Amino acid sequence: MRNDIAHDKHAIAKSFGDAATSYDSVAGLQQRVGNVLLGFVQESRQKEQAPRVLDLGCGTGYVASQLVNGSELMIALDIAEGMLCVAKTRVSQNEKAKKNIHYICADAEAIPLTENSVDLVVSNFAIQWCPDKQVLFQEIARVLVPGGRFVFSMPGADTLHELKASWQQADSTHTHVNQFCKMDELTADVQHSPLHIEVLQSQIEIMRYRKLQELTHELKALGAHNVTDGRARQLTGKSTLKRLVCAYDEYRDNDGMLPATWNVIYGVLVNQKIS
Ligand SMILES: C[S@@+](CC[C@H](N)C(=O)[O-])C[C@H]1O[C@@H](n2cnc3c(N)ncnc32)[C@H](O)[C@@H]1O
Repeated sequence: MRNDIAHDKHAIAKSFGDAATSYDSVAGLQQRVGNVLLGFVQESRQKEQAPRVLDLGCGTGYVASQLVNGSELMIALDIAEGMLCVAKTRVSQNEKAKKNIHYICADAEAIPLTENSVDLVVSNFAIQWCPDKQVLFQEIARVLVPGGRFVFSMPGADTLHELKASWQQADSTHTHVNQFCKMDELTADVQHSPLHIEVLQSQIEIMRYRKLQELTHELKALGAHNVTDGRARQLTGKSTLKRLVCAYDEYRDNDGMLPATWNVIYGVLVNQKIS
């Protein structure tokens, strides 16, 4: 395990379950990235038909609800039951979609589906929570038909670098921000699997805030809690928070706004396993 995300999947499921009802109100970036991802899915479907689709880490169902109409079978999988409940409500408004979609509460690293059972796997901003990408990619290759595609997005290593550096100045004894995957690590993990890289690219998105609390509130409402092994287990003191705010203030731009960088990775991988 090269990244620093703990194996505490219960904590991850709880954190996202608790955030299920607030998630959509702060998920503008995730939805924009989801729209780009849907463009990659459309391109993939022009090359290969994909009637059976699996959305890994479907969350509140933003991507799944748009893919279900063009699919014979849509499986929406998430580790957090609360997220699946919100996804069900979103899809329930569409009678046809309701019939084609199945929900599974499970871990993406142990997918409860048989071999070759889906033609396309999609995942928007979710696989960063899987600590062992090699296990994940093997699982995806197992459930995907030969020639099927895995289309995904995830935050990369530079994500929230301003927050990471500011926390480092305020409290260097703990890890306060999740560590995200470097491109070369991701490439190496793909190369250890039957998946072949068709597209792997990264893009920078900068969000801007008036106050640091707006960013931290947003991360909390998204359920994106710090789950690193080195996290502090007790509440942060006032003086540490003051040091954090001062350190982050150094990043204020000419318009007086605080930037927060998201390094978004997009990938399209083709399953080259021998049938
Ligand atoms: C940032 S949200 C993204 C949700 C959705 N894909 C979207 O586009 O808005 C991450 C989702 O991944 C789920 N998740 C995290 N770890 C998971 C795992 N190991 N297996 C399945 N789902 C997981 C979380 O419960 C959460 O719903």
